[in-house]
Amino acid sequence: MSKSKTIFYCSNCGAQSPKWIGKCPSCETWNSYQEEIRIESQNESPLRSTWKSNHSDTKTKHAIRLDQIEIGQLKRTDTTDPELNRVLGGGLVNGSVTLLAGQPGIGKSTLLLQIAMSLKTGISLYVSGEESEEQISMRANRLKKTSQRCFLLPETRLDYILAEATVLKPELLIIDSIQTLSSPLLESAPGTVSQIRDCTNELIRFAKETKTSVFLIGHITKEGDIAGPKLLEHMVDTVLHFEGDRHYSYRILRTLKNRFGSTDELSIYEMTSNGLTAISNPSEILLSQHEERLSGSAIAASVEGLRPILLETQALVGAAVYGTPQRVTTGFDTRRLSMLLAVLEKRCGFHIGQQDVFLNLVGGIKITDPALDLAVVAAVISSLEDNALHRQICFCGEVGLSGEIRAVSRIDLRIQEAERMGFRAICISKYNTKNYDEKNSKIKVVQLTTVNELYEKVFSK
Ligand code: TYD
Ligand code: MG
Repeated sequence: MSKSKTIFYCSNCGAQSPKWIGKCPSCETWNSYQEEIRIESQNESPLRSTWKSNHSDTKTKHAIRLDQIEIGQLKRTDTTDPELNRVLGGGLVNGSVTLLAGQPGIGKSTLLLQIAMSLKTGISLYVSGEESEEQISMRANRLKKTSQRCFLLPETRLDYILAEATVLKPELLIIDSIQTLSSPLLESAPGTVSQIRDCTNELIRFAKETKTSVFLIGHITKEGDIAGPKLLEHMVDTVLHFEGDRHYSYRILRTLKNRFGSTDELSIYEMTSNGLTAISNPSEILLSQHEERLSGSAIAASVEGLRPILLETQALVGAAVYGTPQRVTTGFDTRRLSMLLAVLEKRCGFHIGQQDVFLNLVGGIKITDPALDLAVVAAVISSLEDNALHRQICFCGEVGLSGEIRAVSRIDLRIQEAERMGFRAICISKYNTKNYDEKNSKIKVVQLTTVNELYEKVFSK
């Protein structure tokens, strides 16, 4: 017996209500409620019967004392991609559900197809609700790879997918994408809150009971949120973000949530004409590709997660062409730039108020490390004064509102990376030297307290 019921869901946070409301009381978004029809079956869900194992639901579990629980080793599968293994915390945990989110065209399908084809043990099942077998096989040809362990299934109905997975018993199940799946129990269209939630729930149960590792691909909205409810992120074990500028070939894979490892990991890939290649030494590619000294360029020693990355910041400062001076940035927060310019104007007496300022982080990579401030300030002064910096000096430090240079985290990692890349000097905050033993390094560490001091020590000839 089944009956249908109309429910309204918030498409942002997944909250529900029996009637339409304009503003979600839970996440305060306006106009996010959508109507959905739900058929409630009083018998066991037909979905579950397609794959359910012999576990009986009536088995009761008893509570166990904490100190008596034996911790078994988490079983992890090697994805054969060392960078992906690292981001996952040392390989893919069996029975875990991982969400890979990213904008369209960034390379989500390519990355997971590469993984599906390179498994050394077991079978992988790649389910696509977006592309046909031919399209996926064409992509595989482009990657110049093939595999006898990889199976493709173009399907969007979850009951068929789970039935097939029960027969194939894959070690890795990839769903491209969660927004295309539909459950036969719900009348609402694929991609709606209840479809996404119910399909994910069923996939999570499937993963835990059969010890299959599941990868879900999730689309991202223009604002950068995972399309569909936020609650998808709460449900899965691991959330990975694949990001980058589509006009550049570099992509960053970040961990946003990881129940089995650190969220500080990150890896960088390059999209080539035959697939994604992991870049194990990002500083080498992000440093500039010119030899001569140019004004307006400064190297920042930044750290993303646990990874030190040296990259070039470029500034161009010139008299404003239009009435209102422009501040245009790529990869850097525009408001942060305005703040740094105000500090230069007020605390150091540079007249930038009437100048256009353009700022670029080379490589199209977006980094939000406060330690970039010092390199940005150095690049702006260098362009304003048309005074090129020495190529073998790099910078890290946060600039405060009174023009003081503040200490930043993980200073030893930054200094080591600068030394490894052959820099002769690094400018850091004076307050950072407490945690660092200078005797061990060959690089010259320049200690600064204010932006004025940066100008005196670095720019005056
Ligand atoms: P795709 O994996 O389809 O992105 P997503 O699944 O995230 O939407 O890849 C998208 C882009 O990558 C596409 O524009 C073509 C490009 N590409 C390459 O440059 N080289 C390759 O080897 C492949 C397979 C794709
Ligand atoms: Mg895709």
